[in-house]
Amino acid sequence: MKVLGICGSPRKGNTEWMLGRVLESAKAEGADVELLLLRNKDIELCKGCMTCEAAGSGNPGVCVIKDDMEPILRDMLAADAFVFGTPVYFYMLSGLLKNFMDRTIPVWPMLKGKRAAGVAVAADTLALAIDNIRTYSDLLQLEWVGEVAAIARDPGEVAKNDEVAAMLTALGRDLAACR
Ligand SMILES: Cc1cc2nc3c(=O)[nH]c(=O)nc-3n(C[C@H](O)[C@H](O)[C@H](O)COP(=O)(O)O)c2cc1C
Repeated sequence: MKVLGICGSPRKGNTEWMLGRVLESAKAEGADVELLLLRNKDIELCKGCMTCEAAGSGNPGVCVIKDDMEPILRDMLAADAFVFGTPVYFYMLSGLLKNFMDRTIPVWPMLKGKRAAGVAVAADTLALAIDNIRTYSDLLQLEWVGEVAAIARDPGEVAKNDEVAAMLTALGRDLAACR
């Protein structure tokens, strides 16, 4: 069982801490885990050319952009479960995570059936970010395992919330649980 955490925050802050907690818990259950920090990767914007689409006349499954998404898509295909994490930006998911989702278009039908979870953190209003992650997961027909949403503003703040920490541990356990 391989669990891939995907962090959509541009800073080392609350989202990264939350994902770390989930992965730590999944690892304790015997899963292989990896945390992907999107901010450290070269991931261009999707060009919208659609040449990667299976039904298209271009090169199905292959993106025309040669950047860090190439190995990341291979990692996604090899993973059994994903935990997506985002700070809430203007009531939604971050642009970093949204662009990443757009760039999964070459392989998205091949991810069907993998497990997925979401974590989100906002200063005061959680709004749509978890729904955004859930919508993406449902569209891909991933198996939704659960979510944790937290209120925190500054880096390190969420780590002081024991209730959130316990929910993140439980989520990691659920993600790693064998079917
Ligand atoms: C561009 C931007 C937009 C934000 N929009 C919201 C928002 O709509 N609602 C909210 O409660 N917090 C908002 N915040 C605050 C962040 O969600 C909050 O600081 C969060 O803890 C950041 O997570 P991080 O530490 O993982 O980056 C925003 C922050 C930024 C930089």
